[in-house]
Amino acid sequence: MPELLQQIKSSPSRIPAHVAIIMDGNGRWASEHDLPRSEGHRAGMKSVREVVEGSIEAGVDVLTLYAFSQENWQRPRSEIAFLMSLLQRYARSEIDDLVENGVEVHVIGDVERMNPPERKAIGMIIEKTRGGANLQLVLAISYGSRAEIIRAARRLAEEVAAGDLEPAEIDETIFARSLYTEPWPDPDLLIRTSGEYRISNFLLWQLAYTELYTTPVLWPDFTRRHLFEAILDYQRRERRFGKVTA
Ligand code: FPP
Repeated sequence: MPELLQQIKSSPSRIPAHVAIIMDGNGRWASEHDLPRSEGHRAGMKSVREVVEGSIEAGVDVLTLYAFSQENWQRPRSEIAFLMSLLQRYARSEIDDLVENGVEVHVIGDVERMNPPERKAIGMIIEKTRGGANLQLVLAISYGSRAEIIRAARRLAEEVAAGDLEPAEIDETIFARSLYTEPWPDPDLLIRTSGEYRISNFLLWQLAYTELYTTPVLWPDFTRRHLFEAILDYQRRERRFGKVTA
């Protein structure tokens, strides 16, 4: 593994500043191991720890994880309750390590839909990790990208209605400033596990020029080695942003 890290560090200008991950395959991992789906989610927590630590080691600045989508509210009540309890457990059990490792946690999504105990746990982890300078960890919870875009459009419409903004002033920069992700650059690299080739309503605006990487590895089996392999693959790509090469 040190050799993978060394390889990554040998192109310092090509380390992705922002990595986003669609963590998929917990359910399939559980059924492959003859376990209930909840055990797949529990095992997936270990991979969260792996990618947080691996991102710091690799020099990534922002890591965004798709932890719970708006569509996930349609899962059976028992599974939703388990995932929410897992989030609370994550907040409690990881807080000291996150603070020690200089991780600042942020949450994007419609958190109003969550119950007070989960909201409290989220508030606590955000507050206690404030000021962490090594990694910005953005957890997308109750997140849906179309809803985020509609929310942004509504906010801008309100500013126009209040007379604070001219419709002609609305450009990409102003629009992006109204999204949840306003503080961070767009992702350089998107990783999706479990062999699926879908965006699943994740960061639709922000992924416009992002490099996509999919792997058949199921999320609970994903380790920092897999993250490093994805980053190395990214470093070999040529990003043109629609232009021609110099
Ligand atoms: C997708 O697997 C995974 C999820 C819906 C939840 C992700 C949650 C975790 C990894 C644990 C908690 C996370 C944090 C940040 C504390 P799936 O259930 O869709 O798998 P399947 O497609 O195989 O059924």
